[in-house]
Amino acid sequence: MHKVDIDLVEMTLDVMKYAINRITNVTPNLGKPKKEQELKKLAGETITPKGIGGEKAFHLFRDVLVKATIPIDHPRHLAFVPASPTRAAVMFDLVTSASSIHGAFWMEGAGGIFCENEAMKWLVSLTGMPEGAHGVFTSGGTAANLSAMVTAREAWRKDMENGKERGIVITSSGAHSSIKAMAKVIDADVLLVEIEDRMTAAALESRISSLEPDQRKRLFAVVATGGTTNAGIIDDLKGIAATCKQHNLWFHVDAAYGGAALVADSVRHLFEGIEEADSVTIDPHKWLFSPYDCGAIIYRDMEQAKTAHAQEGSYLDIFYDEGAIGFNPADYQIQLTRRLRGLPLWYSLATHGTEKYKWAVERGISLALLAGKMIEKHPQLELVREPALSCVLFRRKGWGAEDYKMWTYRNHEDNVALVAPTKWKTGATYETVARFCFINPDTTEEDIKVILETMV
Ligand SMILES: Cc1ncc(COP(=O)(O)O)c(C=O)c1O
Repeated sequence: MHKVDIDLVEMTLDVMKYAINRITNVTPNLGKPKKEQELKKLAGETITPKGIGGEKAFHLFRDVLVKATIPIDHPRHLAFVPASPTRAAVMFDLVTSASSIHGAFWMEGAGGIFCENEAMKWLVSLTGMPEGAHGVFTSGGTAANLSAMVTAREAWRKDMENGKERGIVITSSGAHSSIKAMAKVIDADVLLVEIEDRMTAAALESRISSLEPDQRKRLFAVVATGGTTNAGIIDDLKGIAATCKQHNLWFHVDAAYGGAALVADSVRHLFEGIEEADSVTIDPHKWLFSPYDCGAIIYRDMEQAKTAHAQEGSYLDIFYDEGAIGFNPADYQIQLTRRLRGLPLWYSLATHGTEKYKWAVERGISLALLAGKMIEKHPQLELVREPALSCVLFRRKGWGAEDYKMWTYRNHEDNVALVAPTKWKTGATYETVARFCFINPDTTEEDIKVILETMV
């Protein structure tokens, strides 16, 4: 298995050819899932005592299995939060794998961790957080949010009175599902400010004052959103920061999707207050053009994160010895052994420069504004709300939930686009509406036009 022979040479050529073809293909086929039994029938037995051989396995993947996946970077993939890794970042993901570096401790990963830290310093500089703030790359926004919540909970429990209490986190109903899910992991309760639109300081204050004394005692953190997944809405970060300070609460900003827009001059002012956060999540694998998976958690005070996350074991002692001293990413989030998943971002940033990133993020924002204008001019369409960041919510007059669903399937089936509906709450009612989320800077006005034409 570990021999260097002619089979390895052939496999390398196959893999490199595939990678080059894939990353230069600007309109990959949209691909469709198949039922598992169907895939099994097409693939047959692949795990056998003697192996089926690299060539056969590779051809199966290239010719059959990858076609049952949807390329996230397709310029007409505007559903959920798509992605569009730069070619430089994808190529460096191959380099990251080939280099076999353990990214948990400086002793083993110094050169690679140095690169990650350079990219991280740029991310931190976008937030405006003070000297001393820094972070680490995680597997995604969920892991970043969990790492932040664990840090916040541990800081709160330093007070012995809270040691045995079950904590409470307040967030808004517009917050991402991972907040509730990760609160379950740390066995905390989540209380909602019932607002899908912008969470204001007044709404937060009113939720805090509605708490029973016992609940108030257990409240330790507030999670605001810097760009909701559904609609791109940024909470009143400045006001919420002040409220958190007044009540001595941990202030976390989940900017997993929207945080990239900190680089965009046109919307930077909307994030005012983020510099006051105790922790911030930003996912490079969403809008900073990194391949999966790459999230990031940034802390105002790294020592608090270290207190919460550093692991101990006699087999780890050497990593903390004078001779091995350096920055250990394992100390600041939930994972020990880790891929150097910030390396592709570092290489792409170093290659293209930060100005290109600014341009590419602004492009997503401009596409959303352009789509908004096209929708306003269309007799059968109307905006549900003004576009925010790179999200557009709109309705097709006269359509119900079933029509939107059929529209999604039809466009996918016809290889036109992947666009999916969502729900928007007005008062007490949820309405099914259409949604665009722009990430890929190669999406064009023509792409938007073609998709809107499918809604007649
Ligand atoms: C605001 C927000 N937070 C957290 C997440 C979870 O991130 P991940 O899927 O990388 O775990 C998402 C994902 O879309 C998100 O939009």
